Order: sequence, then C-alpha cells, then structure tokens
Amino acid sequence: MARRIVELLRTGQPDESVTIQGWVRTKREQKGFSFIEVNDGSSMAGLQVVINQDVPRYEETIKRLSTGASVEVSGVLVPSLGKGQRIEVKADSVSVFGEADPETYPLQKKRHSFEFLRDIGHLRSRTNTLGAVFRVRNACATAIHQFFQERGFLWVHTPILTASDCEGAGEMFAVTSLDLKQVPMTEQKGVDYSKDFFGKPTYLTVSGQLEAEIMAMAFSNVYTFGPTFRAENSNTSRHLAEFWMVEPEMAFCDLEGDMDLAEAFLKHIFQHVMDTCPEDMEFFNARIDNSVLATAENIIHNEFERLTYTDAIALLQKADKTFEYPVEWGLDLQSEHERYLAEDLFKKPTIVTDYPTQIKAFYMRLSDDEKTVRAMDILAPKIGEIIGGSQREERLDILERRIQQQGLDPADYWWYLDLRRYGTVPHAGFGLGFERLVQFMTGMGNIRDVIPFPRAPLSVEF
Ligand code: 4AD
Ligand code: MG
Repeated sequence: MARRIVELLRTGQPDESVTIQGWVRTKREQKGFSFIEVNDGSSMAGLQVVINQDVPRYEETIKRLSTGASVEVSGVLVPSLGKGQRIEVKADSVSVFGEADPETYPLQKKRHSFEFLRDIGHLRSRTNTLGAVFRVRNACATAIHQFFQERGFLWVHTPILTASDCEGAGEMFAVTSLDLKQVPMTEQKGVDYSKDFFGKPTYLTVSGQLEAEIMAMAFSNVYTFGPTFRAENSNTSRHLAEFWMVEPEMAFCDLEGDMDLAEAFLKHIFQHVMDTCPEDMEFFNARIDNSVLATAENIIHNEFERLTYTDAIALLQKADKTFEYPVEWGLDLQSEHERYLAEDLFKKPTIVTDYPTQIKAFYMRLSDDEKTVRAMDILAPKIGEIIGGSQREERLDILERRIQQQGLDPADYWWYLDLRRYGTVPHAGFGLGFERLVQFMTGMGNIRDVIPFPRAPLSVEF
C-alpha cells in the first residue's frame, strides 16, 4: 500500500521499501538520471525521487513526467546527498497515471497571484500556499470538535433551510421551488407562498443559534458547526455569501462565562494548530505575514483585553487618528474602529461588551437601564470582528416586547418564546466565523483564499 509522504519524511529509514503516490511538482533531468519531487498533499514538502536510467521504460517515462502529472513510485529510501532533505526514494519502478501537458497546465513553477489562482479554483489546492491553508483549516476544525467534546458539549445539527431570520438583518437568500417565470400571485398582488414548497417564505439560514438554543434547553451545553449564508452585498476581503460558523450555546451561563469560554476556545485552537502544523505556520510567517507566529504566541499566552462599548467609544474619540466613519455613542463600530482597538491600541484580541440596544439583535439580554444589551464581540488584530455573541433574553415579557420593537411578529417565534415559558434559564452563546479564524491564523489577506470554493457577489464557479 502507498505510504503518506508526511510520514516518510518524519520517520522513514534508509533501506525501507516504499511505494508513494502523488503529483509531480518539479522535474530535473541530468545525464543518466532524473530527479522528481512528488507531493501528495500530506505536507508542504514533497519527497524527492531519483530515477536512474536503468528503471524500466526510462526515456518514455521521463518524457511523460512534467509538473502536475500523477505518478506511483516504488523503490527504497536512501539517505539524500542533496541539501534540503534527509531522505529520498531511489526508484525501482515509476508508473504515470495521467500526464499534464506543460503547454496548457496553468500551474507553472513561478509564483502566481491569488487573483489568478481564484480563477483556477479546481487546481489551486495543488499550490504550496493553498495546500497549507487547507491543512490548517482542517486542523482548526479538529481542534474545535476536540475542545467541545472534551468539555461534554453535544454537537447538534441545525437546519440549513429555515423560515425565521435569526439576526433580523434581512440578508437572507430565498429558497423556492416556484417557477419564477410564472409566479402565483395572491389577490393583493403579492407572491402566493401557499403554493410554494413549504407553504411559506423560506430561506437559507444565517445562523443556527435559535435552534441551538432549543437543544441547549435539553442538553445544557451544545454547539453547531455548519454552513451559513448571507446575502450582504459586501465585496470585501472579510465577507463571504457562504461561510461556516461555530456556535456554542450554554444553559446556566451568563456573559462572563460566555467570554471565558470563547477565550479558552481560541487559545485551544491556536495551540492545536501550532502543535500539529508547525511547517505550514512557519511557511505563512515567512511568505504571507511575518507576524503569524508572534500572533499565535500572543493569543496562547496573553489574556484578551475586555472593555465595554461605552469605554471603547471614549477611547476612539480620544484617538490621534482620523476615521472615515463617525465615532459616536449609539453608532455601530466599523471595521476601522475595531482594528484600531485590537491592532493599534491593545495589540491583542479585544472583547467589547454591552452594546447599545438599538444596534443589536432582538434576542440579546437587556440590561437594567435598557440602554445596552449583554452582547460581546471579539475583535482580532487585522481582521476585526471574529466572534459575535451574547447572553440571551430569558424573560418572556421582555423578549416579546423586543421582538415587536424590531418590527418582527412574535407569532413567527412562538417556539422560541415557548423556551421562555417552559423551564427558562439564563443562557449564553456565541458565533465564530470559521473563515475569519483561518484568515487570522494564517495571515491570508483575502477570505476567499481560506475556503476551497468561495461564494461572493457574482462569483459561484466550481
Ligand atoms: O455576529 P454574527 O452575525 O452573530 C450571529 O450570527 C449570532 N447568531 C451568533 C451566536 O451568538 N450564536 O456572526 C458571527 C460571526 C461574526 O463574528 C463573523 O466572524 C462571522 O460570523 N461572519 C462572517 N464571516 C464571513 N462572511 C460573512 N458575511 C460573515 N458574517 C458574519
Ligand atoms: Mg456580529
């Protein structure tokens, strides 16, 4: 059976017979022999293979081997005389699965721009950078499950199709099976949704929170980890139309407990990635952003900054910096403000709490003076908001009032209100934008380069 290259690079010993499978990254022909570097995606580094001219069908095989070709190599491991690798494979046989015509194969040895690579989304995972990104992304996902499972949280699967708008921001993608060329109309000239698949307007979910709350009221501590969708028309380097969110929800928990969990959570993920992907992290530090390793150390070892929105506004007003957007109590923080706090002022993740009631969602717990809600956002240097969370309103009468004040119909939220009728408890949770986390971890400048197949306005190829 073929061996994974990452294992051979770590533990392979001279004289071991091995078979490897992968794709050719480079080929160098010498007199009487050739070198190829084979990569199978298991690590940044590939394994060097020496093919002597006595290998069966040498001339023909070497001709077919170019960057991108797929191969199987059998041979023995030998100590490498060249620099840069401990061992290499001396090939006994080489078989080519598929060639990659060098005239047309788009990935050549030179550096390609990330914009160009996005256009070849079906091939870009074979590059060093995207390879490292997706290995780190996988390690982040592993760390997330590990963190919650070790603490007894249940992973719950919340629906993707939904009839309720959790964030109330109206950024939902509609889902319908109606024929858009012949939409049935009501007498009042509105769309007759009773003829649609579900009998009412239906959307792709923007968050699994409301359903996670249902599950937390049975299992105490739960989390979701799945795709979410937002039709915000923001063509930025931090927004996707389809992104993954991790949402823990804890019964018998207040905002302080929520912040403590979120901080321990981010520390755990960074530690796990540093432990399991050191080469990839060093690569990001050397090639993408030279603060990647220092940031990881900072996250793991230092406490996050915590302050209220009111204090944050005061600090922003005192800042010796001119902002594009106004800073005024009651206005939402823009990404320039978030970055000033986390990047310039505190130089570490910063948790801002107790935002004005009017700018936050209906489900957040109202403070006694009613001016603020028990919200918390975690702001990361270079990224801005990476986590958004809150203590939830567990009091039935106040929740009903807040739903109405936001122009929503309490009848649509009957089941959500029932949770406050039957065995209500203080509870809290948060949502981590998974791609923003991977961006923060790797230093990648554009969120479209940390998800395999990004969806953004006018962009849905692959
Ligand atoms: O702050 P948000 O909107 O919070 C919620 O959805 C809550 N229901 C979460 C909860 O309490 N369970 O979104 C959470 C996070 C943001 O902090 C951000 O990191 C990410 O999701 N996010 C996006 N990531 C990529 N593209 C977008 N368009 C995003 N919108 C939000
Ligand atoms: Mg938010």
